Amino acid sequence: MDKDIQTALNEQIRHEFTAAYLYLGMMAWFETRSLPGFGHWMRLQAQEELAHAMKLVDFVLDRGGKVELGDVAAPGIDFESPHAVMKAALEHERRVTGLINRVYALASAKNDYPAQVLMQWFVAEQVEEEKNAGEIADQLAFAGDSASAILVLDGRLAARQPGEGDGGEG
Ligand SMILES: [Fe+2]
Ligand SMILES: [Fe+2]
Repeated sequence: MDKDIQTALNEQIRHEFTAAYLYLGMMAWFETRSLPGFGHWMRLQAQEELAHAMKLVDFVLDRGGKVELGDVAAPGIDFESPHAVMKAALEHERRVTGLINRVYALASAKNDYPAQVLMQWFVAEQVEEEKNAGEIADQLAFAGDSASAILVLDGRLAARQPGEGDGGEG
């Protein structure tokens, strides 16, 4: 496969593992503070990021490319509040969207149609990712310092199932 696309996909594999590592840290942050619903949401989020990484790994392998794994840096997980955690998650997803868009643009520029199809899935996925993180961040902003509101939200997030973004209707 095209070397530039291979490099970009390997970089994206690293970014997905970095995201998984970040959400793992956020999961621990919430679990440590006895907010198991948020912790559960973050645990599933970390698993989703690993699934994203594997999707890219499989694509590189299927195309006869070379998987080259880069370093995954430790995430900073020193947060002030649940709201600060979710704001950081949202900012992270926005950054990832920019990275995904760049890989898609490269696949387009190179007329690599299979890579374009793959990256279209990621483009659509990022809309969901930003929406889900943004919704929870907004709800925590409404909640402010209200412990009862935060606990209600914790209960709702505990219901998140694998494959969905929130604890609610889908
Ligand atoms: Fe991802
Ligand atoms: Fe994500």
